[in-house]
Amino acid sequence: MDQNSSFSAGTADIRSANGDALAEVTVIVCASCRDETGSDAHPRAGELLADDTRRAASGEVRVRTVECLGNCKRRLSAAILRDGCWSYVFGDLTAASGADLVTGAKLFATSTDGLIPWRGRPDSLKRGLVARIPPLDLLKD
Ligand code: FES
Repeated sequence: MDQNSSFSAGTADIRSANGDALAEVTVIVCASCRDETGSDAHPRAGELLADDTRRAASGEVRVRTVECLGNCKRRLSAAILRDGCWSYVFGDLTAASGADLVTGAKLFATSTDGLIPWRGRPDSLKRGLVARIPPLDLLKD
């Protein structure tokens, strides 16, 4: 077991059995988000962001879409999740933010404390942070 194998917060081992932390990370893109004009036209800007994210992921990072993340007022929205770690919601993205989301996902896979490291995080994932939600295990008394 290496030094990256557990949370500093004292929760469970964050590495999967095969040691592939990247397999624990998922990017969720809202495919329903509209562009700045608010147009209902398809493809929606969110669909374009999902396509851009899949391209950037090149099959290395799991990408899923949903119909709404409840963050519509912050424009294009996405979330990055990792098993047993904090969950992140981002807004104010663009249809070309896919590479940033994948960079954030890969960075998350290197995390040793359950958080996406701040250093190296793309600016869009700093400025666009809407919320981070802890895993339930972290809240056990
Ligand atoms: S439509 Fe994208 S967050 Fe609601």
